[in-house]
Amino acid sequence: MIPLTLDNRQKWLVTGAAGFIGSHLVQNLLLQDQIVVGLDNFETGHQQNIDTVLNAVGAKADQFTFIKGDICEPDTCVAAVQNVDHVLHQAALGSVPRSIENPIRSNEVNIGGFLNMLVAAKDEKVSSFTYAASSSTYGDSPALPKREDIIGRPLSPYALTKLANEIYAEVFARVYNFRCIGLRYFNVFGPRQDPKGAYAAVIPKWIDALMQQNEVQINGDGETSRDFCYVNNVVLANFLSAKADDSARNTVYNVACGQQTTLNQLFEHLRNLVAKRVPDSASSKPNYQNFRDGDVRHSLADISKIQQQLGYVPQVLVEEGLQTTVASYFD
Ligand SMILES: NC(=O)c1ccc[n+]([C@@H]2O[C@H](COP(=O)([O-])OP(=O)(O)OC[C@H]3O[C@@H](n4cnc5c(N)ncnc54)[C@H](O)[C@@H]3O)[C@@H](O)[C@H]2O)c1
Repeated sequence: MIPLTLDNRQKWLVTGAAGFIGSHLVQNLLLQDQIVVGLDNFETGHQQNIDTVLNAVGAKADQFTFIKGDICEPDTCVAAVQNVDHVLHQAALGSVPRSIENPIRSNEVNIGGFLNMLVAAKDEKVSSFTYAASSSTYGDSPALPKREDIIGRPLSPYALTKLANEIYAEVFARVYNFRCIGLRYFNVFGPRQDPKGAYAAVIPKWIDALMQQNEVQINGDGETSRDFCYVNNVVLANFLSAKADDSARNTVYNVACGQQTTLNQLFEHLRNLVAKRVPDSASSKPNYQNFRDGDVRHSLADISKIQQQLGYVPQVLVEEGLQTTVASYFD
């Protein structure tokens, strides 16, 4: 449960609604009796995520409308924001390697599509606009923990697109007085994160490999670390952003747990959890590969800004989140 009650019924647009994070936002909004429009073109999302959410919310499913469309089409964005109070913009092409393979499509969706959404939301005079920024914006800055005001140079086209979003948001505040909030997510995980495909994130990919008793591959020596963040914490951060005062807008916030976990530690946790259900996976050993281009070595968030300004407190820490996540892949 998200420990924040949305008092009156309002209309929300969630872009990327068929994706991992977007589908959790939709589910929690519907559970809180809100009216929700979801926009997605299924480029990386799945109809099944929407179906699962609508089954889970019972009669509140009637308060959901889905638009199949591409944020690269300005008219689609204009139609989607009609009479909307709050926008939670999640649609983007994630993954550093994907952006290295195809920087043009990442640019089209993550920058062009973002701009279309900003313009549409500004013209509709929505009450709030919150967008998914990324910890990749810290780039090559060695500073730890990561504070919002100290960033380095982007290490991938994906990181560049997310930095460009922040710059656009700042310029829209200056030029149009349109104040948004960017949430720099740190490695988010949870149920429904896609385990398949070349660009799958590490946690679902490893759970899937352990369940199938396939080899787990670690890029580098395994001492690379991340601040893994369970998806419910991200939902809470989005709700807090939508309710934020004007003085807390036109800025970015880290969304994480403020806990550092190495890939070796992550592997141990996941192997122990999966082994409770697939005993043979207990003997699984990782296969260490070369470091991957564009990856940062360590990532750990300073979350004091979002704690102080939005009242965010992470609700689910890594170990509990991993237990719930692993269990969900056996359902
Ligand atoms: N998962 C993480 O760890 C993480 C970390 C930092 C930032 N983010 C950001 O959070 C957001 C959501 O990520 P996610 O992990 O849920 O990824 P996801 O791939 O599961 O969800 C993204 C959704 O956007 C949709 N989409 C992509 N291009 C689109 C387009 N042109 N028009 C309409 N819809 C489109 C996809 O079909 C998908 O359903 C993204 O902006 C991502 O960059 C995620």
